[in-house]
Amino acid sequence: MSTPVYEKLKHCTDQVASRIRTRPEIGIVLGSGLGAFGSQMNVREIVNYGEIDGFPTSTVKGHSGRYLFGELEGRQVVMMQGRVHYYEGYDMTDVVLPVRLMGMLGIRTILLTNAAGGINPTFGPGTLMMIRDHISVYVPSPLRGPNAEELGTRFPDMSHVYDPGLQDVIRTSAQEEGIALREGVYIQLPGPNFETPSEIAAYRTLGADAAGMSTACEATAMNHMGIRIGGISCITNMAAGLNSAPLTHEEVQETADRVAADFTRLLKAVVRSCPAV
Ligand code: HPA
Repeated sequence: MSTPVYEKLKHCTDQVASRIRTRPEIGIVLGSGLGAFGSQMNVREIVNYGEIDGFPTSTVKGHSGRYLFGELEGRQVVMMQGRVHYYEGYDMTDVVLPVRLMGMLGIRTILLTNAAGGINPTFGPGTLMMIRDHISVYVPSPLRGPNAEELGTRFPDMSHVYDPGLQDVIRTSAQEEGIALREGVYIQLPGPNFETPSEIAAYRTLGADAAGMSTACEATAMNHMGIRIGGISCITNMAAGLNSAPLTHEEVQETADRVAADFTRLLKAVVRSCPAV
């Protein structure tokens, strides 16, 4: 028996599939500041989220909201320029619909990027952090509800969400490009408010290095579908309590823009050297 979540996903996927010739092998979700990364790609098709019936349409400023299909570093790629966040009010199944759709189109690898606050005191603004693992708190699992058997199993293992082989590729790519790369644990919080200093202190004791409002739920959905996952955070600010200045979305955007050139180079190198699966 098919589930409503799967039916909706299929409905959205069919519309996109009918409009593209690209057969993407790698999916990339572009976080804050990486919006311009699309210009690196030889774009063949563009599908605006708003043109897909049933698609959760993003409302956040600075997220234009579209899929770009084409070729990057000799690979067939689909990029999400703009993602859907839980804090916008969508069900978690809608939040992960866009990444699942890329899975339905046949991607075997996904690179998830985001802006995050530094909880590890040595991760200052501008640090690039490879995600080794994640913690998800106060947000429901995107797999809650009847299991879509077409996508994956009811109780998926989460021991290696961020593929160890792909982590090696990311490390090596950073080295070869001469880009400093830290590693750590990402914690997903519901947002949209930033955290309190006491919350951040608590998350530090839980083992988190960076805080954000996306990504872990997407990784959970992609892991369910058996897709190889890599994750990189751009630390845009120190998390609450680690310095005295109030946090603003503008600061997040400014730092992300400042780091965009290095982030772009790193991502391209990863796409180039990522082995096919
Ligand atoms: N907290 C949560 N999400 C974020 C932050 C933060 O400090 N910075 C960028 N995204």
